[in-house]
Amino acid sequence: VRTRVAIVGAGPAGLLLSHLLDELGIESIVIDQRTREDIESTIKAGILEQGAVEMLDRLGEFSRARTVGVRHDGIELRFDGAGHRIDFAGLVDRGVWLYPQHEALKDLIAARMAAGQDLRFGVTADRVEGAETDRPTVYATDAEGQPLEIEAEFVVGGDGSRSVVRPTVTGSSHGGYFREYPFAWFGILCEAPPSAEELIYSNSPNGFALISQRSETIQRMYFQCDPETDPDSYSEAQLWEELQSRVPGTTLTEGPIFQRGVLRFRSFVAQELRRGRVALIGDSAHTVPPTGAKGMNLAIADVIVLVGALRALLLEGDERLLDEYAETASARIWKAQHFSWWMTSMLHVAPDASDFDRHRQLGELRSVVDSENGRRYLAEAYTGWPFEGLD
Ligand code: DHB
Repeated sequence: VRTRVAIVGAGPAGLLLSHLLDELGIESIVIDQRTREDIESTIKAGILEQGAVEMLDRLGEFSRARTVGVRHDGIELRFDGAGHRIDFAGLVDRGVWLYPQHEALKDLIAARMAAGQDLRFGVTADRVEGAETDRPTVYATDAEGQPLEIEAEFVVGGDGSRSVVRPTVTGSSHGGYFREYPFAWFGILCEAPPSAEELIYSNSPNGFALISQRSETIQRMYFQCDPETDPDSYSEAQLWEELQSRVPGTTLTEGPIFQRGVLRFRSFVAQELRRGRVALIGDSAHTVPPTGAKGMNLAIADVIVLVGALRALLLEGDERLLDEYAETASARIWKAQHFSWWMTSMLHVAPDASDFDRHRQLGELRSVVDSENGRRYLAEAYTGWPFEGLD
């Protein structure tokens, strides 16, 4: 088949891209190897920057971010036995929305289906060829096991951290900048009312914990663990004990834990973000550790930059913005990498941390919360820098 833009991956980045291209009258095909049910039920991130919510507003009645999602005007940093509120609204006059990624995906899929988008589930991309030509092509296998060729004017890889498109751009699937962390997150979902009004990011002598939420009746919580932890090695009582011990001063409201898992994480930026007429967006281009909730938001920022470049290329034959795509996107990617690394290193306890490291870390946290400038940097980065690339 032929189309103008072939998009590999029906995640937030790929689906939003197809919507914004459609607004410009540019046709696309989106493929994803997963089923729709799988995409709509996988538990992922929970926080949308204000600018990301404004992007979803473009879906009109399909976006439930402002109705089902909940605006948060701050977070609490907790350390050394005390909580310190970071007042986003007061510091930067912005907020974030707690709206689970899979709910945003339901909205995006419903909106694209209603618009008649060619959106194919169960289709596995095998490789991309012709990046340096005017007709880059995706070679895929459809849900029935039949070969499918999508010939396009541009190919976009929004196919996640194990991207099939990435090697076409970088020359190898590993080309890039990496950082590993000596810990992971143990995440749970439980049936209970919220334990606090806002999210709590806690640095405790026992390690990090994040008390997040999903709704009035479902809560999401995480605690720092060894990456090799077997999720089934903890009883429910042990999980509560672990979580409670990491938020001294707060009493968590307990309830049945119905989902659990260990999330390993790392920092990664691909060496190249574009080659000829193939570009990477979202996790195929970069991965951030979850502390600070930048992943989905960064994917949306990439899309906005790329849409401007594709509009110039495909509607005006102007390649200049495309030539700037990698540089423009990289500036924000590295700011978000820094912020995610900083939040992670400031809040977690490294397994080999010395007493000096521990005291220095508390000094760092104090220099943030005791300073309006420190709090303002955190608020500005957390709620998101302005999006560039689209009016
Ligand atoms: C959630 C995840 C994050 O990484 C974060 O920083 C805040 C919230 C969440 O899943 O709720």
